[in-house]
Amino acid sequence: MDPLEPGNRRDFLKLGVLAGLGFGLSAIPSAEAKPDPSQLKHRAAADIGAIRPRPAGNKPVWNLTTKPQEKIRVGIIGLNRGRTHVISAAATPFAEVVAVCDILDDRAKEQAEVVRKQTGKTPIIYSGDENVWEKMVARDDIDVVYVATPWEWHKPMAIRSMELGKHAFIEVNCGLTVDECWDIVDASEKYQRHCPILENCCYGEEELFVLNLARQGFFGDLKHGECGYIHDQRVSGTGPKGYTFLDAQREWRRNYATILQGNVYPTHGLGTISQYMGIGRGDAFKYAVSVSSPEFGLSQLRERVKPDRDRSKDQKFVCGDMNTSIIKTELGRTIVVQHDNTSPRPYTRGNLLSGSLATFAGYPNRLAIDADNTSPLLDPKEKRHSHDWTYEGDKLKKFMATNMHPLLKKLMVESKKVGGHGGMDHVMNHRLLDCVRQGITPDLTVYDAAGWSALLDLSDRSVRDGSIPVAYPDFTRGGWKTLKPLPIVS
Ligand SMILES: NC(=O)c1ccc[n+]([C@@H]2O[C@H](COP(=O)([O-])OP(=O)(O)OC[C@H]3O[C@@H](n4cnc5c(N)ncnc54)[C@H](O)[C@@H]3O)[C@@H](O)[C@H]2O)c1
Repeated sequence: MDPLEPGNRRDFLKLGVLAGLGFGLSAIPSAEAKPDPSQLKHRAAADIGAIRPRPAGNKPVWNLTTKPQEKIRVGIIGLNRGRTHVISAAATPFAEVVAVCDILDDRAKEQAEVVRKQTGKTPIIYSGDENVWEKMVARDDIDVVYVATPWEWHKPMAIRSMELGKHAFIEVNCGLTVDECWDIVDASEKYQRHCPILENCCYGEEELFVLNLARQGFFGDLKHGECGYIHDQRVSGTGPKGYTFLDAQREWRRNYATILQGNVYPTHGLGTISQYMGIGRGDAFKYAVSVSSPEFGLSQLRERVKPDRDRSKDQKFVCGDMNTSIIKTELGRTIVVQHDNTSPRPYTRGNLLSGSLATFAGYPNRLAIDADNTSPLLDPKEKRHSHDWTYEGDKLKKFMATNMHPLLKKLMVESKKVGGHGGMDHVMNHRLLDCVRQGITPDLTVYDAAGWSALLDLSDRSVRDGSIPVAYPDFTRGGWKTLKPLPIVS
C-alpha cells in the first residue's frame, strides 16, 4: 500500500497512531496530524536496549554505494538552521539548490533570493503550511533532502524522503525515542538511501585534528572520552524576543524540558568521541547511566522575563539543568556526556580523549603526551613529562597546523569564506555532498544518527528509574564487530 495514496490516507493515519504507540515503521506523517512528542511511547528499561529484528528484505547500508553523479540536487526543509545548508550547497560547484521549504513564506523567499544571488538560478519555493514539504520531497529532480526542522518532524520527513528515493540528511537528533531511531534505520535499510546525521561538530578543526591523530594510533589504546554540549542559550540577542527558550517560534525546544528528564541535546559532543573510538565500527555502546541536577534555569528565566504573550507561563519544567551520562562501551571504554543550556557558563563541548600514550583536552586545547610515545609525528629528542600538558597555546597550534586533517587542508580557505560555525558547517556539507557525488558511503551513517540520538531516550529512562544502567541498543545489529572505520579523507 502506498500510505499517501488519497484513498489510503485515513487508514494510514490510524497506522501512524499505532506506530507512535510502538508498533513499527509506519509513523510517517499525515497532513492532519502534527507529530506530538508528548504522545510518544518510551520503552521500559527492561527492553529499551533490545535489538529489533531486521525486517525481511532489508539490507544493511553501512557500506552502501550508489551511482556516481556529476551534480547533486538538493531540497532544504526548515530555513532557520537550514540557511547554513542553503549557503553551503549554493557555494558548492557540484551541488544545486532546487527547492527551499519553510512554513514561513518570508524565510523561504529570502533563502530563494540568497540562492539566486549566488548562482543566478531561483529555487522553487514551498511554503505556507506545515505539510507543504510533502510536495517538495515528491519532486523527481531532488537527490538529497536536508531536514532542519524541529525534531518531532525529523522521522516523518526523513522516512518519506527516503521512501521517495532521496537521501535524507538530518539536523542532529534523528528521533526522540529509541523506537523512532529504529524506524529511521529500518527505512534507510529498506529504501537503500543514506541517512547521515548532520553533526557539524565532527568537522571542526580540533575534532578533525584529534581524529587524524587517533586514526594514526597516536593516543595508543583508547580508554576514555569526555564531551558534552554546555551552551547558555537562555539569552540570544536583546529583549524578550531574544530569549531563545521563551520565544514562541522556538518553543519546540522548551517543550522538551516539560516532557524529558535526561540529556535533551546529546549528539554534539558524543558524535566526535564516537568517531575517535570507532563506535559502530570496531566498538559499540553497551550501556548508559544518567543523573540530572535540579531544574532552575528555565523557571527562573521565566520569572525574570515574565513573558506575557508566551505559552511558557503555565509550563512545568521537569528536566534538570545539568545532565551527566556515562556510557560504557563493548571494549570497556567509558564516555562522559554532559548537557546544560541554561546556566551561566562559557561554551564547551569538552572534547577530551584519553589513551595509553596521550590525552587531548579541548576548551582550551591541550595535549599531554607520554614520555614513551614513539609516534613518528613527534621529535624523538623532545623531553616530555605527562604530568604537564606537553603542548598548549602557540606550541599546540603549530603542532595542529603540521598535522591538519587532509579534508580540512583541502577545504580550509573555502570553508572560512562560506562560513557557518567558523567553517565547519561547510566542511561537513561539502564532504557529505561529495560522498553522494562519488557514490561512496558518507562518513556519517544512519547507524551513527540512531546511536548518538538514542542517548536522549536512554538518559531519560535512566534518570526516571533512579539512574539505573540501561542497555544500549545496537543499531548495527552486530555489524560493529567486523566493520572497519570509514577513511574520511579529502
Ligand atoms: N548543528 C548545529 O549546529 C545546529 C544549530 C542549530 C540548530 N540545529 C538543528 O536544526 C534544526 C532546526 O533548529 P532551529 O534552531 O533552526 O529551529 P527553529 O525553530 O529556529 O527553526 C525551524 C524552522 O523550521 C520551520 N518548520 C517547522 N516545521 C516545519 C514544517 N512542518 N515544514 C516546513 N518548515 C517547518 C520553522 O518555520 C522554522 O523556520 C534542529 O534539528 C536543530 O537541532 C543544529
